[in-house]
Amino acid sequence: AHAQTELTIDQSAPIGTIQPEVYGQFVEHLGAGIYDGIWVGEDSDIPNTDGIRDDVFAALDRLEIPVMRWPGGCYADLYHWRDGIGPRNERAGTVNMAWGGTPESNQFGTHEFFNLAERLGAKTYLNVNLGTGTPGEAQAWLEYITLPEGSDLANERKANGREKPWKIDYLSIGNETWGCGGNMRPAFYADLYAQWATLLQTAGEAPKRILSGSHEGNIDYSDEVLDHPGMGNLADGISLHYYTLPNGDWADKGEATDFSKAQWAETITRTLRMEDAIERSLAMIDSHNFEDDFDLYVDEWGMWVNTEEGAPALYQQNTIRDAVVAALNFNLFHQHADRVPMTNIAQMVNVLQAMILTDGGKMVLTPTYHVFDMYRPFQGATALPVSFEAPTYGSGDDAFPALSASAARTEDGTLVLAFVNADPEAAHGVTLQAGDARRAEGRVLSAEEIDAHNTFASPNEVQPEEMSVRAKNGTFELGLPARSVTVLKLVQ
Ligand code: AHR
Repeated sequence: AHAQTELTIDQSAPIGTIQPEVYGQFVEHLGAGIYDGIWVGEDSDIPNTDGIRDDVFAALDRLEIPVMRWPGGCYADLYHWRDGIGPRNERAGTVNMAWGGTPESNQFGTHEFFNLAERLGAKTYLNVNLGTGTPGEAQAWLEYITLPEGSDLANERKANGREKPWKIDYLSIGNETWGCGGNMRPAFYADLYAQWATLLQTAGEAPKRILSGSHEGNIDYSDEVLDHPGMGNLADGISLHYYTLPNGDWADKGEATDFSKAQWAETITRTLRMEDAIERSLAMIDSHNFEDDFDLYVDEWGMWVNTEEGAPALYQQNTIRDAVVAALNFNLFHQHADRVPMTNIAQMVNVLQAMILTDGGKMVLTPTYHVFDMYRPFQGATALPVSFEAPTYGSGDDAFPALSASAARTEDGTLVLAFVNADPEAAHGVTLQAGDARRAEGRVLSAEEIDAHNTFASPNEVQPEEMSVRAKNGTFELGLPARSVTVLKLVQ
């Protein structure tokens, strides 16, 4: 049996507000991410509303999705927005050269994306095409979307069925400009960004502008981009992309299921390096001494494993390991709530670490979905520091702290706690002063096997269970099962 780990929450030193957008999503035209996953079209046998499948919409709606990033990713740099407006039966058929030259029907375009965001009550994050587009093309798109009236483009939007403009909350110019976005040197990208950011205008409230930045721990690229004169005024922040590859090898990333405990350990170790990537990125940003706030946007993160044989691009199964990885990341993001105002998991449906998998008319919620659902009370809450000495799992390079915890105060004053037991083998206990709370109530997600997952045939293998613990002598003693994520509220 393991000793109890004692936790202390410092309520006097709040870290900052956890912006709801920390729980953001990424939606790219890629594999079955949009077509089949979200969009089936009005004529489909699959129940839908205006072409969006009802089962997926209801599941997404429950998550209170705060923001969605679209249309890519690498695809953004090949996307021409005019292909995706106007009567759907007249839209061009193109091919998606970013992801395998697959047919792109353009049935899901600007109206479909912004209307979906509106129905979900989500903010919008648009990535314009710097790679194969022009500033003129991007400017026309922004005008089409945001100008209330008085121009041909505003009239065209109205003629296409949308009277009022939409709002763009976040805008990115370029994506992975060090790679699929054009293999640019940072100074060259910085010049292009500065030109576009100066010229591009929206009507109404200006979006936050986000630079395309580094990936993994390699922050030199971002550093050089930020060297550009005046960059602190041309952008509100810079992105960081950080994926967890179990093997750390792009040629053989590791398997989604049927992996060993050693691979579990390697996955957790690599995930926890997100902390170092965030901290070094923030220190690098600070070294530029910008006058205004300048933040870090982790606008792509999540598990990336080998794609299933014969499956759509980047389709992968999702296990209790993914759930643990998601929760570890959230706990790290909360620790930097004051400087990381948005993150976007890659991606929402059927792609990489997805919330939802579909196959024709079937749908299944993944363990990652349940973590997003359980963590909902953290959206908009105030993060509080938690201190404890975590027990170590394993030894050598892949040894890691078995426990991770996070605490926050919600707007109504409730204390909410999250715990991850990343130990693949053993349960752990934690103790915590109860203050004036009498019970801790919430849900726990765990599984018998390290690769337990939900399938269309067996959709409830990994599901949260209710948990309620009474304080004894002013203390909570909590048992955290092996491989688990727990979210609790303290109540009277
Ligand atoms: O999320 C999949 C891809 O990963 C994105 O298109 C790209 O930006 C990144 O390399």
